Amino acid sequence: MGLMGCVAFMLLLFCTTSTAHYLSYKFYDKKCPNALPTIRASIRRAVSREQRMAASLIRLHFHDCFVQGCDASILLEDSASIKGEQKAIQNMGSVRGFNVIEDAKSNVEKICPGVVSCADILAVAARDASVAVGGPSWRVKLGRRDSTKASLAKAQRDLPLFTDSAETLIDRFSKKGLNARDMVALSGSHTIGKAQCSTFRGRIYNTTAEIDANFARTRRHRCPAQRNNGDSNLAPLDLVTPNSFDNSYFKNLIQKKGLLESDQVLFSGRSRTTQNIVIEYSKMASTFKSDFAKAMVKMGDISPLIGSAGQIRRICRAVNKH
Ligand code: HEM
Repeated sequence: MGLMGCVAFMLLLFCTTSTAHYLSYKFYDKKCPNALPTIRASIRRAVSREQRMAASLIRLHFHDCFVQGCDASILLEDSASIKGEQKAIQNMGSVRGFNVIEDAKSNVEKICPGVVSCADILAVAARDASVAVGGPSWRVKLGRRDSTKASLAKAQRDLPLFTDSAETLIDRFSKKGLNARDMVALSGSHTIGKAQCSTFRGRIYNTTAEIDANFARTRRHRCPAQRNNGDSNLAPLDLVTPNSFDNSYFKNLIQKKGLLESDQVLFSGRSRTTQNIVIEYSKMASTFKSDFAKAMVKMGDISPLIGSAGQIRRICRAVNKH
């Protein structure tokens, strides 16, 4: 590479990697010193009302960040000018927690109107949710702004599917700057939360699937074989300790008791890389937890809107009127 090529390369590297560096831990320290405790109180209240909400909030942040970056686009409802992401097949009838975020936002608006973005509230809520169920903590970088648009098409294109192979999952995450280890660690959030029958029916009735026979039989009780029958019946993603943030999800995979196909392929699929990471995490809960925290920070760095891009929404479900 010549000198010019080298300079161009360095510039490109700088431009593609530097945005996240504008986020900072102290962003609201002066602008709204009580922002974080206020969000934390809202999240704690919500999780103590319903444990599952912790899972739902972590997932909401993930589904936000994977579409146009962490810009709260997932919170925008359909309107005359917006075709929202909530109707994407990966989201419809399954992402939840919108009211909890809206409630946290309105509490923050009361103390500092127009200062704290919905995108930051999502990132902080995910961390506080993890802590509320015994998961790891991490420092959340702040300063993301909210988008004025959403993309149904990008949501359908970029969010993973429960039928994806290990290779496809690795590829989808790498497109967002996350490696296989990040992907496996983040999938470990399936140590809490629930999935609907429609997402695991194919797997529990597939006689050639890599699935423990007793586990499949148990799951069939509340998930009939016929479509449109009990589709929304819930089962825990981690059958052993569904409400605590631990590494039993990985132990389950080794016993072929993953609920989703996309869970089981991490151990039983063609990727030795993901298989080895599953084994490692199954043996070492502390490694899983610290990798999870690191990967959440990395995920929160995906293409934030900064500076004067986007806006600070007044309510999270709609863009500002003027
Ligand atoms: C690797 C690709 C992934 C796929 C294919 C996938 C797919 C799914 C599906 C199908 C559900 C059940 C939804 C329902 O039935 O309503 C689910 C739930 C969940 N997912 Fe994932 N997921 C993936 C990765 C992740 C990541 C990276 C996170 C977080 C960082 C995450 C967090 C969760 C949580 C916490 C739940 C439970 C939500 C609740 O109970 O409300 N998932 N996921």
